[in-house]
Formats: sequence, C-alpha cells, structure tokens
Amino acid sequence: MSNQTVHVPVLLEEVTKAIAESGAPGERVWIDGTLGGAGHASELVALLHDGDCLIGFDRDPVAIARSEAKLSQISRICSVKLVNSSYRDIPEYIRDGSIGHADAILLDLGLSSDQLEDRERGFSFKVGGPLDLRFDPSQGISAADLLAKASDRELADIIYQFGEERFSRRIARAIVERRLTDPVTTAEQLCDLIHRVVPGKIHGRIDSATRTFQALRIAVNQELDHLTESMKRLPECLKPGGVLVVISFHSLEDRIVKHSMRDHPLLEVLTRKPILPTEMEIDKNPRSRSAKLRIARRLFE
Ligand SMILES: C[S@@+](CC[C@H](N)C(=O)[O-])C[C@H]1O[C@@H](n2cnc3c(N)ncnc32)[C@H](O)[C@@H]1O
Repeated sequence: MSNQTVHVPVLLEEVTKAIAESGAPGERVWIDGTLGGAGHASELVALLHDGDCLIGFDRDPVAIARSEAKLSQISRICSVKLVNSSYRDIPEYIRDGSIGHADAILLDLGLSSDQLEDRERGFSFKVGGPLDLRFDPSQGISAADLLAKASDRELADIIYQFGEERFSRRIARAIVERRLTDPVTTAEQLCDLIHRVVPGKIHGRIDSATRTFQALRIAVNQELDHLTESMKRLPECLKPGGVLVVISFHSLEDRIVKHSMRDHPLLEVLTRKPILPTEMEIDKNPRSRSAKLRIARRLFE
C-alpha cells in the first residue's frame, strides 16, 4: 500500500468555514465521519489547539492507515483519534464515553479517488481489477459474489434503484446468462458486458457503465441504510449549536440529506439551497462537479 493519497478534497474552503467557528477553543471535538485521504481532516487539524480533538472514522482500513501516516507528518498540537468503522457507529462511540458530544460532524459521502485508483478493489471500470467494491473488504459480500448469487430480478432492482439505470433488466439478464458459463469477476468484464447490452457507450459525459458500478457499490456497502440511519441519530451526537456538514454526490444521497435535515426536530437548516463548487473548482477537480454541500445546526434547547 502506498502512503500517498491522490484524493483532492471537495469544497475544502466551504467545509472549513462551516466548521472553523464551532466550539470553544481548547475543548473542541470535531468528527470527520469519512476520513478518506484526510484532505479535509488535515485542514481541520491545523485549526485545532491543545485540548481540542479530531476524530476520524472510515470503513476502509487502507484509508485509516494512509491517513494515520499523513496526519502524523503534520505538526499538530490537538489530539487525533482514528476509528476503522462506519460513521453509523459514532453514537455508540460517544455513548461508550470515548469522547464527548461533538461541535462538528462532517460527512463527505461516497468514495475517494484513492479507492478509485486502487486496482485491487475494482471501484473504477477505467482502472479495472477484481470486482470487490466494498469499503471494508472484511464485511459483507463482494460485488462479484453478489453478481454470482442474486436472482435476475434482484439484480435488476438493485441496478434500477441505486443506479437509476433504465436498462437495468437488460443488464441483469446479461449478467445471469453469462454466469452459466463464465461469471463476471472483474471490473473490465462487467464494463464490457454493459457496453455490449446498453445502446450508446457514452451518454453526454457519462459512460454507460457508471450507473451500474454506482448501484453495486451502494448495494454491497448498504450505503443508503448507513446514511439514513445516521442522519436520524447524528444530531443527538452534537452539542447545542454544533454543526452537521454533509457533502453528497448523487440525487439518492442528496434527497436523504435534504429531507433528514429539514425534518429533524433538533436541527435548523443553515443552507436553504445546497452550496455547489465553483466553475474554477470543477475545472481543477472534475470529480467535484456533482457535489452538494448542506449544513444544519443543532438547536439550543
Ligand atoms: C469522498 S471520500 C472522503 C474524502 C475525505 N473527505 C478527504 O478529503 O480526503 C469518502 C470516504 O468515506 C468512506 N466511507 C464511505 N461510507 C462510509 C461510512 N458509512 N462510514 C465511514 N466511512 C465511510 C470511504 O471509505 C471513503 O474513504
């Protein structure tokens, strides 16, 4: 594993500004629920003082190890704790007394460029590799296993619901037919299969394989369940006045974030409309183009 991270943090200035004023210096607790390449975390750590604490969660053990190496190289005076677990476990972590309630919680959803570039995980059909797609390869089943075991109907539903792919049935049928003789086990094979059965390889700027890869990744990681549950429970983990800062990358995530923030009795929404990246940021970092940042504050009771 390389210690180098290639991930460029999205909406870095906007996220930092949203969190920078939260809490009293010397007793601040900031939680990065999706540490990734520690891009946001490095910037946040630099703002913290003696007595403050940053806690980073990530399901991916590789991301935790890489961030540990990166953060240890940054001179810092605050305490830093890293936890290889889902942000869904933050409430239990607080309840167990490991830390106090938080002044800020950040979720930067989805996957990092480090994961996309990793040939061992199959996250990108452009990079290829065994079709795993799990953030934590020790949990649940890989995407290749899912393709080998699920019924035609189950696969079509996953690809339709989590990928919003209108050719979901056609793709599912092709996967099931192929597995009778030669199951799909790599990102390259899945990509070729989709290109063969879906008309038009590229729709606008989006490759026709993108939606199916997204759907399978969401399914094997149960991403929307983790997000929905956390959006209900994380507000209770904040101190009054603490902020919940969430970046989403597609409409399924953003819908959950928007409605949960609006409907939660403990939250006041601070962003009537989501904050979007500037043209300049999109030019520099095309991955940021679909990002939406929403911020809510825990009410003072
Ligand atoms: C977009 S990246 C975060 C990048 C990070 N903000 C940075 O600037 O380097 C998303 C990260 O969230 C992690 N992740 C996804 N779902 C998670 C969950 N439920 N709990 C914890 N981490 C999760 C992924 O493994 C990935 O490393």
